[in-house]
Amino acid sequence: MGAGTRTASPAAAGGKGGIHVAALGPGADLAGFRTAARRLIAAGIPPEAIVWQSETPSLFGADTAPAEAPPLALPRAVTDLIPMVVPHRDPERYGLLYALLWRVVRGERALMEVASDPLVHRLHRMRKAIARDLHKMHAFLRFRRLPGETERYAAWFEPDHHILEAAAPFFVDRFRNLAWSILTPEGCAHWNGALTFGPPGRREDLPEGDGFEAGWRDYYESTFNPARLNLDAMRAEMPRKYWRNMPETAAIPGLIRAAGARAQAMIERGPTIPEKRDPVRAVARMARDEPDSLVALNAIIARSEPLVPGATQAVLGEGPMGPAIAFVGEQPGDQEDRQGRPFVGPAGQLLARAMAEAGLDRSEAYLTNAVKHFKFSLRGKRRIHEKPTAGEVSHYRWWLERELGFVAPRLVVALGATAVLALTGKPVPITRARGPADFGRAFAGFITVHPSYLLRLPEAAKADAYRAFVDDLRRVAALVA
Ligand code: URA
Repeated sequence: MGAGTRTASPAAAGGKGGIHVAALGPGADLAGFRTAARRLIAAGIPPEAIVWQSETPSLFGADTAPAEAPPLALPRAVTDLIPMVVPHRDPERYGLLYALLWRVVRGERALMEVASDPLVHRLHRMRKAIARDLHKMHAFLRFRRLPGETERYAAWFEPDHHILEAAAPFFVDRFRNLAWSILTPEGCAHWNGALTFGPPGRREDLPEGDGFEAGWRDYYESTFNPARLNLDAMRAEMPRKYWRNMPETAAIPGLIRAAGARAQAMIERGPTIPEKRDPVRAVARMARDEPDSLVALNAIIARSEPLVPGATQAVLGEGPMGPAIAFVGEQPGDQEDRQGRPFVGPAGQLLARAMAEAGLDRSEAYLTNAVKHFKFSLRGKRRIHEKPTAGEVSHYRWWLERELGFVAPRLVVALGATAVLALTGKPVPITRARGPADFGRAFAGFITVHPSYLLRLPEAAKADAYRAFVDDLRRVAALVA
């Protein structure tokens, strides 16, 4: 945690049997490791002559001289690996990384590709452990609202490795507009417009459950599918250790107990044909559950039946609160329906590429859809996307309006005709309306084509249409700049 580097001076080495001490700060001292490694490599010190100390006082009177050595020219695979191994709890992590650097700078440039090499194999395993730990923290950390006048949230989490600093930017992206703290036994992260780190926290510093948690419980109950219950997979994915910090886990024992009976009932009922919907009644029903937060709204959406049967799940919007830009697409596609996340399939990848070319950071934008369920027809085993009707779009408008109200973007980009219909209530030809638009709301508007339209164009027309799309996104970037 940025405790600076104290590397034994070469002068000290002679008197200590050629041993050099690299004393690093506690936890994941990435900057310290980089500095020390540069100096030691520049001085030609081999791995076996170094003692890497972390979190313990120096044994050999290490010095604190600043680094003078230049950065090392390393292959990408190595530079990417270092930040993913430094947070590992293994006390040998720095020594192993240095041994890798030593071999790479001495000519084994492709060493990372030799998966059978014991050092590479061990480092890969460590990287995987960190990726898993980060995933668990991102997925299982739950904020609670703190009592008091000002809105503040806090969460307690016990990671397996020193990942707090590496994990925190994810929460900044997700909850940019909230003030929050993450408490861990090793240190705390605080966000209030700026990210800072402080001393360890205690679980007892967090209040007991709050209303905010009911949303999580509802959401979990509504997405739990008894026919897919697999206890081993569930325990592997969500180890018990995390349960006590997760409000929705209170529902798990009851759901497991009831799963057999619920699955049997589903089999006995057989496939159902959804009742014909009356959109007016549906909206009136939704209005009764008027949600007071995005979490509550998402719980309602997640619980809802698709208007047209077949979708695996509702696909909720994703991204930070209070973003400069929100993108509204049409409806989730096949990949989005399987993964439960918007814009992860081919159209989403094209959008991400165009955004990057236009200088927009995808992780800073909010992405959502006019319609929250995938509508398709079957062709053999393939699920072919079907355009939602105007009635279906209007059914989901209530949600979209509230969603954008909670998310509060500065500008909304409507991608394609369905998004425009959802935002304006009117069918508008994209070719005529393309460009800045007024949706009559608190946010500015912009209309452009949907990325899947670009994917469907004949090859000869693709390049020009893609360039025009990137130009549109550049205009959007300029509008929010
Ligand atoms: N198309 C959309 O409109 N939304 C998605 O999430 C994916 C493809």
